[in-house]
Amino acid sequence: MLKKIAVIGGGNIGGVLVQEIARRKLARTIAVTDPAPFINPNDPPEKQEVTRKQSVSKGKALDILEALPVMPADVRIEASRDYDVLAGAEMVISTAGVPRKARPDGTFPSREELLAINLKVTKHVADAIGQYCKNAFVINIANPLDAIVYTLYKKLAPPKNMLCGMAGVLDSARYRYFVAEAVGVSVENVEALVLGGHGDDMVPIRSCCRVAGMPVEKFLSKEKLDAIESRTRKAGGEVVGLLGFGSAFVSPAFSALEMAEAVIYDKRKIIPVCTLLEGEYGVNGLFVGVPAIMGAHGVEKVIEADLTDAEKAALGKSVDVVKKTSAEVDAAG
Ligand code: APR
Repeated sequence: MLKKIAVIGGGNIGGVLVQEIARRKLARTIAVTDPAPFINPNDPPEKQEVTRKQSVSKGKALDILEALPVMPADVRIEASRDYDVLAGAEMVISTAGVPRKARPDGTFPSREELLAINLKVTKHVADAIGQYCKNAFVINIANPLDAIVYTLYKKLAPPKNMLCGMAGVLDSARYRYFVAEAVGVSVENVEALVLGGHGDDMVPIRSCCRVAGMPVEKFLSKEKLDAIESRTRKAGGEVVGLLGFGSAFVSPAFSALEMAEAVIYDKRKIIPVCTLLEGEYGVNGLFVGVPAIMGAHGVEKVIEADLTDAEKAALGKSVDVVKKTSAEVDAAG
């Protein structure tokens, strides 16, 4: 159990995170900060006054606190519109930012299209972490994932093991689920790895996919696997299209908690994580999803999987997308 974990952004993913951190008793104190609902300066003063008294994070925190006796869990939750509740956090999970949302015509933006708006939010997040808990281990979830983690790295300059992004666990969980469903076996039997950027060019690594230790090709045809991998790459969008109001929030929260628990319990678990590459996989200076050992020191060691030539080429294409969004971060200053 840590002394304190802070969740930045108490929206859909943030709410599940706070609830689960409490239920799993991962920290004695959970902090959650979110400025919502935002005050509209065009509203009449009396309406602004009503909005100022509301707080998404405080409302969610109170709801979860009132569930503690029947959870049961003895934890504290500090909720605020402001960032000062971050003080003393040993771990931060940031979800602050706008998610993808279906447009009235049913289409929806790419994660990369969220960059401009979420860059602005990330600047505030970086300042807050720097001011209140600069030594915390940070997991970012906000999209576009790889570029937002890169932004936090540029602003905070932490030791590289102390900052990472959550995407590969989720993408791999989606791949695992689809394979388990198609084979008709337990999800626990399926091991899988998705590498690269967290975009539609992510790379499901078929040569690393195993069903109870056996190659996945023993169970599924090439055509079936092609279809599953294509669905995996677009799985986030599939949920956005169905929900209408936003993007997936249970699976991302649970995936981030898989990473948090590896660190809290010093599991030294190999997990796909968005981390700074310095030559591994032929990439330098970018945050990209790769398998790494996660333990008490955070992201402890990148593992270089043996990839086929086709997988290497696909990874190169995915890295090019990360390079482009990271260059946009550099250009934005
Ligand atoms: N500081 C803290 N929180 C902020 C800030 C900020 N500067 N700006 C916005 N937020 C909050 C919003 O008020 C909102 O409550 O972040 C929360 C985000 O929650 P949701 O809109 O419900 O989005 P969610 O589904 O949780 O996704 C969050 O993760 O997967 C990504 O693409 C997704 O970028 C999105 C992020």
